[in-house]
Amino acid sequence: MKFLHVVGARPNFMKAAPVYRSLARIGHEQVMVHTGQHYDALMSDVFFKALEIPNPDESLNVGSGSHAQQTAAIMSKFEPVVLARQPDTVLVYGDVNSTVAATLVCAKLGIRVAHVEAGLRSYDRTMPEEINRLVTDQLADMLFTPSSDGDENLAREGVAKEKIFLVGNVMIDTLVRFLPQAEQIFPELKEKLSLDGYGLVTLHRPSNVDDGATFLPMLDALSELSRELPLVFPVHPRTSQRWAAELEQAGSGLRVIEPLGYLEFLALQQHAKVVITDSGGIQEETTYLGTPCLTLRENTERPITITDGTNMLIGRDWEKLREGFRAALNGSRARKEPPPLWDGKAAERISAILSRPIH
Ligand code: UD1
Repeated sequence: MKFLHVVGARPNFMKAAPVYRSLARIGHEQVMVHTGQHYDALMSDVFFKALEIPNPDESLNVGSGSHAQQTAAIMSKFEPVVLARQPDTVLVYGDVNSTVAATLVCAKLGIRVAHVEAGLRSYDRTMPEEINRLVTDQLADMLFTPSSDGDENLAREGVAKEKIFLVGNVMIDTLVRFLPQAEQIFPELKEKLSLDGYGLVTLHRPSNVDDGATFLPMLDALSELSRELPLVFPVHPRTSQRWAAELEQAGSGLRVIEPLGYLEFLALQQHAKVVITDSGGIQEETTYLGTPCLTLRENTERPITITDGTNMLIGRDWEKLREGFRAALNGSRARKEPPPLWDGKAAERISAILSRPIH
């Protein structure tokens, strides 16, 4: 059979990698399409190398733009590619604009779409990713969910049971595979960044970083905490472009650096005393690693990281942030078993299902 993968933004790469590898082992024909939503070397190229996946067969080079512009550009550039390549199934990942754009194209052409990481819901439609999830899951033919809350959300939206497959978390497949390599590079990284004990910060959501009235108090709160424990802050281009001067002036405990590669970031997550983030994937990775995670959002589409993991929602409550931070430093939040099916084998389950004959 022939499978076409659509990737575009940083979090897609670690989800597609294990599925690609697993389908290759079975001997299926595959095509990798990179939309170019993320294009900086540090946001894209370094991941293909680190994750040991072949370079894209097709690059659409769409670049940045408003949501409408970016989604439309992906759609119009992807349509001729998918028509020329004639795959049996198109695989889309996560909740980024590339995911929804490719799904819309395939749905109209009658090409089978499989959504990996389906069913997650924050129930917050002000998040662009929530719109992408809702549309993608309504249109996809096969929905691979990472946890049972995904199945429940899809059932509530009227998605037929036969389309839903609870397979586990592909991002954790990648983590399990690469953790030994991350461990190997940690000593050198620690020395390079002159780190002893430290916390790790990432922030890139528009709702947190686009508006100074929100971002600047957040930066102040982080600067304050960084006096107790150095905080390493690899900055997403969205955040650094907007706040270059403010980031430079932030307290010296806040170690502002460029985006890191996959292995480097994984190594830092594994050894951090605490992670402060607004990313979705990092809530999952810290849950698996047992690292306390303080999420600077009011809601999460990954509630299992709270019920079964190490995640705590902070919103913009700085007192709660201080409390969570101190609790993490005191080690008072015990490590739990990872959620069911977060076992490094989700991609194998997906490939087995995709290899069944199409009716
Ligand atoms: C996108 C995803 C988000 C995901 C995040 C991971 C959507 C709606 N959002 O957000 O779900 O968590 O990726 O990083 O798909 N930029 C660069 N170089 C790049 C990429 C982006 O400089 O390689 C800058 C551009 O100024 C761009 C901005 O970052 O306008 C935002 O990029 P965009 O792809 O629109 O969304 P992200 O914020 O990265």
